[in-house]
Amino acid sequence: MKEIINVGVKSRKVDLSNCKTDLLAIGLFADAKGLDKPTKELNSKLNGAIDQLIKLGDFKGKDGTSALIYGNEQTGAKRILLVGLGEKKKATLDTVRKAAANAANKAVEMKIKTVSLSLHRAFGGRFDLGTMGRVMAEGVYFGSYRYDEFVTESENGRQDSLSVELIDPDPAKISKLNKGLRSGTIIGKAQSYARTLANRPGNVINPVTLAAEVKKLARSSSGLSCTVFDEKQLAAKGMGGVLAVGSGSKSPPRFIILKYTPGGKATSKVPTIGLVGKAITFDSGGISIKPSAKMNEMKLDKTGGIAVLGTMKAAAELKLPINVYGIIPAAENMPSGTSYRPGDIITTFSGKTVEVLDTDAEGRMVLCDGLAYAAEQKCNPIIDIATLTGACVVALGSHKAGLMGNNAELIKQLQKVAQDSGEKVWHMPSGEEYLTEMKSKIADLKNLGHINRYGGACDAAAFLGQFVGKAKWAHLDIAGMDIFREPTEFTVEGSSGFGVRLLTTYLMNLTGKKG
Ligand code: BES
Ligand code: ZN
Ligand code: ZN
Repeated sequence: MKEIINVGVKSRKVDLSNCKTDLLAIGLFADAKGLDKPTKELNSKLNGAIDQLIKLGDFKGKDGTSALIYGNEQTGAKRILLVGLGEKKKATLDTVRKAAANAANKAVEMKIKTVSLSLHRAFGGRFDLGTMGRVMAEGVYFGSYRYDEFVTESENGRQDSLSVELIDPDPAKISKLNKGLRSGTIIGKAQSYARTLANRPGNVINPVTLAAEVKKLARSSSGLSCTVFDEKQLAAKGMGGVLAVGSGSKSPPRFIILKYTPGGKATSKVPTIGLVGKAITFDSGGISIKPSAKMNEMKLDKTGGIAVLGTMKAAAELKLPINVYGIIPAAENMPSGTSYRPGDIITTFSGKTVEVLDTDAEGRMVLCDGLAYAAEQKCNPIIDIATLTGACVVALGSHKAGLMGNNAELIKQLQKVAQDSGEKVWHMPSGEEYLTEMKSKIADLKNLGHINRYGGACDAAAFLGQFVGKAKWAHLDIAGMDIFREPTEFTVEGSSGFGVRLLTTYLMNLTGKKG
């Protein structure tokens, strides 16, 4: 994708006080007791500038902060960026990732093209070095990401490449860091790919163009194959949910199936994981139309599906020894004379009927067909990901995604992976009581629980749980997690690519791959 900055991450055996570079990033904890030996050396070459910054209280090592110092004839580095790591005991792998993202973001801001990272050193032996190599690479892609493919008038256009190196004087450490670089680069690039697709507006990405993009991806990746059902096939298969939601739009719906088989051969020895992602390319609400304020953000209502797409790309490039289905029901939810209406009763792919009370509760209408299809393909476990409910944003804000499901072990696995990936989740209830709300008197289910919408995220999950058969299943409600409304220290505003790291690391863990 040419619209993404071309980023390369490598490693180099060199000490920080001798490292020739445009920008050298060093991590410092808020509660560190003094500087370590190499940093002390650099500090003396800088005539005590690091000490001075700390003494004056201009840099406290707080999480998300940084301070810039200019180098001199004695230092190899032209600039030194101190990156805050927060309190030592609170540090996680995401602290390492965010430090790298912070440095990469600053580098692109300053139009710097070569960056050297000495961030792992502060963590000592706390984390596996290969894993630190991976998460630093992920962070570099995350932080340097920009979205400007439609900007034609920018005077100070951004650079088109960035070269980053992880540095250490010890060759043994370098070779360990290297172990994670490859997977970190794959995951980082997959997330940037997802962010760009998600950021593209509804007049560019619709179900038809999205399907074409997925086909293109499958053609260029070994192990991936793609099947797309068009509206005729959807009708023939009885995928009433996807058809109903897509019926109001000029762009017809598509049901996109990506299949990853390691080495191109299906093997029955490993389980088949099903990933199902909601891809509403624009959600106007349909006949139950949304208020106009911030409706533009609903171009991001496809991000669940896009996260599945990014994950499939990463799984294939990582050559994970596992079978994965990526199922992406795609539709545009629009009001028109051909739209589905409140009151309609829809027969879904599973055979279950649904009374539509609100056409804006369309995510569950497409996901129910996606989940039932995954169950029919004997996927187990099945994980779905969707910008599903405003109620989830009310409950959790924009810090954690809602996590529900029918299997305690799967929930636990995802909670663990969320911690390491930095894409956080919170386990929320669902099940019988909530399901009662979703029963209709004139159909099997209705698509809206309480008219007051209390507990709406849990109701939605209970609805979805009806379509997975006996499979182990988990549901990620990522409403509120799909977007950064403002730029942060770590990245720009727009799509967050949430879910690519979480789902890819989940798959990696299943296969025992660490890196
Ligand atoms: N796409 C929205 C959910 C959403 C809200 C995503 C805010 C991101 C930010 C979804 O399709 C929707 O409109 N849900 C309704 C469900 C209701 C009608 C039961 C909602 O949350 O209001
Ligand atoms: Zn909606
Ligand atoms: Zn929606």
